[in-house]
Amino acid sequence: MKILITGGAGFIGANFCEYELAHHPEDTYLCVDALTYAGNLASLEKVLSLPNFTFVRGDIADRAFINDLFAREKPDIVANFAAESHVDRSVTDPEVFLRTNIIGTQVLMDACRQYGVGRFHQVSTDEVYGDLPLDRPDLFFTEQTPLHTSSPYSASKASADLLVLAYARTFKLPVSITRCSNNYGPYHFPEKLIPLMITRALADQSLPVYGKGENVRDWLYVEDHCSAIDLVMRKGRAGEVYNVGGHNERANIDVVKAILRELDKPETLITFVTDRPGHDMRYAIDPSKINAELGWLPTTRFEDGIRHTVQWYLDNRKWWENILAGEYQHYYTAMYGNR
Ligand code: NAD
Ligand code: DAU
Repeated sequence: MKILITGGAGFIGANFCEYELAHHPEDTYLCVDALTYAGNLASLEKVLSLPNFTFVRGDIADRAFINDLFAREKPDIVANFAAESHVDRSVTDPEVFLRTNIIGTQVLMDACRQYGVGRFHQVSTDEVYGDLPLDRPDLFFTEQTPLHTSSPYSASKASADLLVLAYARTFKLPVSITRCSNNYGPYHFPEKLIPLMITRALADQSLPVYGKGENVRDWLYVEDHCSAIDLVMRKGRAGEVYNVGGHNERANIDVVKAILRELDKPETLITFVTDRPGHDMRYAIDPSKINAELGWLPTTRFEDGIRHTVQWYLDNRKWWENILAGEYQHYYTAMYGNR
């Protein structure tokens, strides 16, 4: 089979490319990525030279490029990871989120229709469900939870999900969607909570925790997300949504303290800063559908995953120091300067 992976030079996409090539070496992979600020060919180093892996630079919202690519390559499965993914950036500059996350998804699905692709898999997020209150630990997101978005990012992802389901019903496009909770692990771009805190703590810099640090996220080690997507795109029922998460809820402040313990750094580095506008309070996934239908369960405990992640950042300084030395160095001042 030929599998087209979009956004494969990003955090989850790069982990997914490694996962697929290790678990299904009999297949052929084509990775398409625009290499925005978040895309990094260094994250694909382990797979780039393999004979059954090809990288093509391109924009999923560029219809001529995508049509030409599909006409030439005729993929059997398309897994769409490409997106603008950072909530804070969607607050300061929403437009590119709409273009990539919504129009890009539509352009890909039109090409899937035209070239008879067997499965279009959309990598979505639990953020489409909005948030849950802190005082109702009994509540979880199920696939029936109504969509109720908070940020331009989550609104763009929910819009894409609606389009995907509309293409399934109207055009009978064989689609699937996974909605996953927060991932962490290798190749995570250092603008996101966990890698930001690791890289700043290593430099003895202040750690900006939004609000009181009470917000809760349901953390999933990235390889567990990859195994879920692999199962759903190959064996999941067409037209279905599957929630992915591992009952690993942690308040942000506890995540930051766990990182400091791993690095043997003092909690005095923590600085509470002005909250994110519209900040979702709690995410918590009920993964019983994917467990019952496909037997999926996460395998990495948070304590092991965070230790492994911290070690990865210690062992791969060049990877993130190159990012911090580039264009990204202006981002921190722009985003946090007046907080
Ligand atoms: P990321 O920002 O690290 O990577 C996104 C990748 O998409 C980058 O390589 C970027 O260059 C590429 N890209 C952006 N615009 C593009 C375009 N127009 N055409 C082609 N490529 C483009 O994101 P991530 O954290 O790896 O997330 C991947 C997917 O998973 C996203 O769809 C995101 O919504 C979803 N998701 C992320 C998480 C998480 O915790 N990170 C959780 C659930 C779902
Ligand atoms: O739930 C899945 C989502 O998880 C994905 O769809 C998104 O693409 C991904 O970025 C992530 O969104 P979050 O907004 O939850 O992740 P982020 O790492 O930006 O923030 C995690 C929590 O930490 C959130 O409550 C905000 C807080 N935070 C974040 C940053 C960057 C801070 O307190 N300080 C910070 O500097």
